[in-house]
Amino acid sequence: MLRLHNFIRPAFRSRRWAHNIPTFSHLNSVNEEDIAHFSSILAPTSILSTLSSVSTPADDIAPYNVDWMGKYHGQANSVLRPRTTQQVSEIVKYCAQRKIGIVPQGGNTGLVGGGISLQKEIVLSLGAMNNVRSFDPVSGVLVADAGCILQSLSEYIAPHNHIMPLDLGAKGSCQIGGNISTNAGGLRLLRYGSLHGTVLGLEVVLPDGTILDQLSTLRKDNTGYDLKQLFIGGEGTLGIVTGVSILTPPAPQATNNIFLALPRFDNVLPLFQTVKRQLGEIMSAFEYIDRTAYDMGLQHGLGPLLSADEVGDSQCFVLVETSGGNQDHDLEKLNNLLESLLTADEPLINTGVLSQSPTQFNSIWALREGLTECVQKEGKPYKYDVSVPLADFQNVVDAVRERMISKGLYGDHAISKVMGYGHVGDGNLHLNVIAKHGYRPELEAALEPFIYEIVAERKGSVSAEHGIGSMKRDALHYSKSEISIEWMRKVKQVFDPLNIMNPGKVLP
Ligand code: FAD
Ligand code: MLT
Ligand code: ZN
Repeated sequence: MLRLHNFIRPAFRSRRWAHNIPTFSHLNSVNEEDIAHFSSILAPTSILSTLSSVSTPADDIAPYNVDWMGKYHGQANSVLRPRTTQQVSEIVKYCAQRKIGIVPQGGNTGLVGGGISLQKEIVLSLGAMNNVRSFDPVSGVLVADAGCILQSLSEYIAPHNHIMPLDLGAKGSCQIGGNISTNAGGLRLLRYGSLHGTVLGLEVVLPDGTILDQLSTLRKDNTGYDLKQLFIGGEGTLGIVTGVSILTPPAPQATNNIFLALPRFDNVLPLFQTVKRQLGEIMSAFEYIDRTAYDMGLQHGLGPLLSADEVGDSQCFVLVETSGGNQDHDLEKLNNLLESLLTADEPLINTGVLSQSPTQFNSIWALREGLTECVQKEGKPYKYDVSVPLADFQNVVDAVRERMISKGLYGDHAISKVMGYGHVGDGNLHLNVIAKHGYRPELEAALEPFIYEIVAERKGSVSAEHGIGSMKRDALHYSKSEISIEWMRKVKQVFDPLNIMNPGKVLP
């Protein structure tokens, strides 16, 4: 077991840390003439602008200028909502010529400020491009506009007994183009892998307006460099994703879940090994919730899945989902697992519950998926989605709490809660630090780069799934070498030499 002091090493203290606010002297603001030009491309209803020729009320622009957490505030005076790839291409061509910065925006559920303008860039919202182009129920290949909402796509393919290969709490608002641009992970990654594997093709408008049509539906295609991979997780810095071809798996015949209370964190790792061994191929999710996050969920009306007596002094919880082909077979495996866990000489769990109906199945998932919204109700969250070795999850959370205590910043006057939950099966911890009365520079200064340092020390990643955006630009070097960053810059230069595409994001 690693101790907290292991995280505080002088070597990382000396690393460069600066939060630079980028200035875009190379870019022009949008003016009346630009709006007149956009009016020749788009219908009047597709242009929102506070400039006098359109005079959209500021309240109508406001939602495009603030992120889901209320942490990032943009200054865009104009938002364009194209309906076709051709329109996107014409807009981008014009912006390149006029050197106007463009921020692609999907469902605006991103958690790192990637979809919010930094200066006066124009927001290009994909929300009006929301048609399914084709679905092949035999191969499971779905081709859709980038602005389709993830949940709508799930509903579209459900009657064909297929599911989307990704699922996340933001499914009702996030768009498939946003998912791809952030390389979203979510709750099904353990089973179906990342979008780098399930995305078969993309249609992208490049920063000079060229349409790159790589909307392949082929499972196998080894014809040279796989350019689409650059846009998966590209966070809108290399081009605008307008169309997506994605492989959707057949819906599992049987899904079940269990919720387990563990006496201590040290049991999570052996439990993961036991569960993997006993459930084998039917295990489809293994999610972690610490006690602070569980109690917070209960306070905000999630659960309770177990009685207070059953939970006792359990330190943490695990949700296991199975997806298989035969309900009786899967239930037998789950029952055997629970029985062996509860009757072991030194049980790894205090207690557990197995869902007995679709309603119970959903309420077990609701507890895990609802945490993000609860965090939001608690105050203003500093959210860190890190990859660290599973054995270090709790140490990282404890180290951050200790740090805030030692600085006199822990309590209702400053940071009221530090908690962890996440995708244990993927090595991804969601560290959430709640500022009860709002974001304050001294709180951020106490948290960053401290958290990035302890992640780097564990050879982890400062972003497991939410991306870099504007939040972690200056922390990129904690997870990427100077050479990697240099080559990332070269790639950006090749695609976007004018630096108009989501400027100030991802790259330091
Ligand atoms: P936006 O927030 O609009 O944009 C995100 C980034 O992608 C920005 O940089 C933007 O410029 C760029 N972008 C968007 N669309 C395009 C496009 N068409 N072309 C080029 N660039 C584009 N994330 C996870 O990975 N896993 C989770 O489990 C998860 N759960 C969440 C739960 C909640 C309740 C919330 C609020 C967020 C969650 N997120 C999660 C984060 C977020 O939902 C994902 O990052 C999601 O993929 C963002 O999609 P979006 O359409 O909202 O994109
Ligand atoms: C999750 O796994 O719940 C999401 O990534 C969102 C979050 O970090 O809260
Ligand atoms: Zn997540």
